[in-house]
Amino acid sequence: MSALADAFRGQAEHFEALGSPVYARLAERLADDPAPISPIVGDDERWDVPLRLFAAVHYLALSGAAPDALSGRFEDFAAALAGHGEELRRRVETHGVQTNEVQRCTMLLPTFLAAAAETGLPLELIELGPSAGLNLLVDRYRYRYANGSYGPADALLELTTDEQSGGTVPASLLGRELVVHRRRGIDLAPVDATTPDGYLLLRSFVWPGLDERVARLDAAVETLRRMPERPELIQGDYTEVLPRLLAERTADALTLVFETFSTVYLPDAAARQLAEALETAGGDDRPLAWVSVRRWELGAGTDTAFELELRVWPGASRVVAHVDPHGNTLDWRL
Ligand SMILES: C[S@@+](CC[C@H](N)C(=O)[O-])C[C@H]1O[C@@H](n2cnc3c(N)ncnc32)[C@H](O)[C@@H]1O
Repeated sequence: MSALADAFRGQAEHFEALGSPVYARLAERLADDPAPISPIVGDDERWDVPLRLFAAVHYLALSGAAPDALSGRFEDFAAALAGHGEELRRRVETHGVQTNEVQRCTMLLPTFLAAAAETGLPLELIELGPSAGLNLLVDRYRYRYANGSYGPADALLELTTDEQSGGTVPASLLGRELVVHRRRGIDLAPVDATTPDGYLLLRSFVWPGLDERVARLDAAVETLRRMPERPELIQGDYTEVLPRLLAERTADALTLVFETFSTVYLPDAAARQLAEALETAGGDDRPLAWVSVRRWELGAGTDTAFELELRVWPGASRVVAHVDPHGNTLDWRL
């Protein structure tokens, strides 16, 4: 049990630092005495067990099955564990951490505009690991940047980010139009956020206390509901499915394959396979671009510890921005 106790203790610090005191207190208590959760998690010592467990309990609370489970009183939490052990066990086992952070569109939008400006072509988007596909609606949200705004005036969601001085998105880019002809995503476990269960699943992974995130999620899901044509979410492993989509791609649009915080978790062999599939496709004469987040060695310990890469074949890969994992900070470099 001690690795699990350590996982809860470590997670308690994150919960506190990132704005969820209810989870922080519960996690500390479970780190001191994990007995109430042992029938549920058994000897599962995966690092994300605390996140899976809290999301499972949150799901029960949101769905009305255990409305007081996250009241903040440990007795209410323990009663939910005792009364719903079997369902919690099943949810912890089957549902990995499932988040779809639309705030990351603040880094995607200018990058897509840059790729479209370079080629003068409409885009066909393919997202790797889209979860519910909310970031495939990147052009349907409104944005406020230091040098101007972008997006429909009646958008349900307005996003903004903290731009670092000297690294702001240029007004000339924000003056361009993004035309998206097709939106597809490939995910091991795609979520249909327009269903009650799909919505609650996504919502259950947003920690209590993070109200702005809930508001963003709700506005994005409502945008999705109102889309005349929703993105196509393909269930599968993208390292296996992507080569087929690339082989069938059109010559009339720029196929832009992108990902945020999915490929950083890939094993080396799978990452190589993906890079080779893109390289092979980039070698033919149909337009192709790649946008991806990768770790930035020099950024370790700063707010912007990741770099956003853009490659438009046959050109080389370029760093367009330094970013943080949530899309709250943007240092535009192009
Ligand atoms: C951390 S979430 C990020 C979701 C979304 N990209 C975002 O930024 O909000 C990672 C997503 O990648 C998916 N995923 C991870 N590895 C995958 C693979 N090999 N093939 C397909 N989907 C994968 C997961 O199911 C999950 O939905």
